[in-house]
Amino acid sequence: MNIATVAKPHERLAAYLSDDMAAVSALIRERMASEHAPRIPEVTAHLVEAGGKRLRPMLTLAAARMCGYAGPYHIHLAATVEFIHTATLLHDDVVDESAQRRGRPTANLLWDNQSSVLVGDYLFARSFQLMTEPGSMVVMRILSNAAATIAEGEVLQLTAAQNLATDESIYLQVVRGKTAALFSAATEVGGVIADAPEDQVKALYEYGDALGIAFQIVDDLLDYQGQADATGKNVGDDFRERKLTLPVIKAVAKADDEERAFWVRTIEKGRQEEGDLEHALALLEKHDTLRATQADAMAWAAKAKAALEVLPAHEVKDMLTDLADYVVSRIS
Ligand code: IPE
Ligand code: IPE
Ligand code: MG
Ligand code: MG
Repeated sequence: MNIATVAKPHERLAAYLSDDMAAVSALIRERMASEHAPRIPEVTAHLVEAGGKRLRPMLTLAAARMCGYAGPYHIHLAATVEFIHTATLLHDDVVDESAQRRGRPTANLLWDNQSSVLVGDYLFARSFQLMTEPGSMVVMRILSNAAATIAEGEVLQLTAAQNLATDESIYLQVVRGKTAALFSAATEVGGVIADAPEDQVKALYEYGDALGIAFQIVDDLLDYQGQADATGKNVGDDFRERKLTLPVIKAVAKADDEERAFWVRTIEKGRQEEGDLEHALALLEKHDTLRATQADAMAWAAKAKAALEVLPAHEVKDMLTDLADYVVSRIS
């Protein structure tokens, strides 16, 4: 099998970066352990061994390699980024009361909310230890800012959920915070650690930001039109959680009085009945909002690709370009 022609872009990146990724995995394994509290390795192993695409650490490694980095610290930064990601997933599944993650029952379901919150805190703390190791104040500023911005995005989403006044600009703010902040920090620190010129670091930031937004928009689309066996998560969770994601925001904007009453009852009041998810899907179809949402995701992917233009030619650059296309193509 020729990996260059058949593999998906993130698999090609993983293959190209396989030595670095192995070092990241070893470091994650080493730092996720705890001598004193056995619950910690139980929970972290459950989540970490389930895999995950490791997209964010790959972005850090890719950016560092593309900018010619030859030192050892991109490994620490990539592990930091995955720890922040894993910590936010533990917390997110508690907040969202989710039952499935990475094709497995969530930690909150298998253990309890307390364990998920506390082990999430532990992983956050571990990420802060790791991010100090390269000894760069700039890197610490970028990654600690990202951690704060993710939490802000999640809190903003909490107040925007169940509120039909949530519009596309608030949605964008939520998505930029909860998801894109870590993508952009992941790519930016790769450039910073490699001492890349300012315009290249800025381009890497912009690529991560736009890619992260496209990624989350697609994730929100898949919540309505995905297959649980492909996404490893339940379909229809966002509707049940009364979250206003882009497909619904667009449908609410086009709703007539009767449709608006439906959204008020199901999203604002949370009085959901049998068949409501199917009706919601029919309204998304009627107003063609899934297609419009996909078009938005494609526009962000195009923006991500355009950001890469200032970077010098490199095979990793081509893979990052393909990755932007792939992120939006996993819809269909
Ligand atoms: C899940 O991210 C959280 C979102 C931002 C949608 P991923 O889909 O990258 O999760 P894993 O790490 O591969 O499980
Ligand atoms: C992703 O948010 C979690 C974070 C970015 C912190 P969602 O709640 O939308 O993602 P899934 O669907 O649970 O992965
Ligand atoms: Mg969630
Ligand atoms: Mg969430």
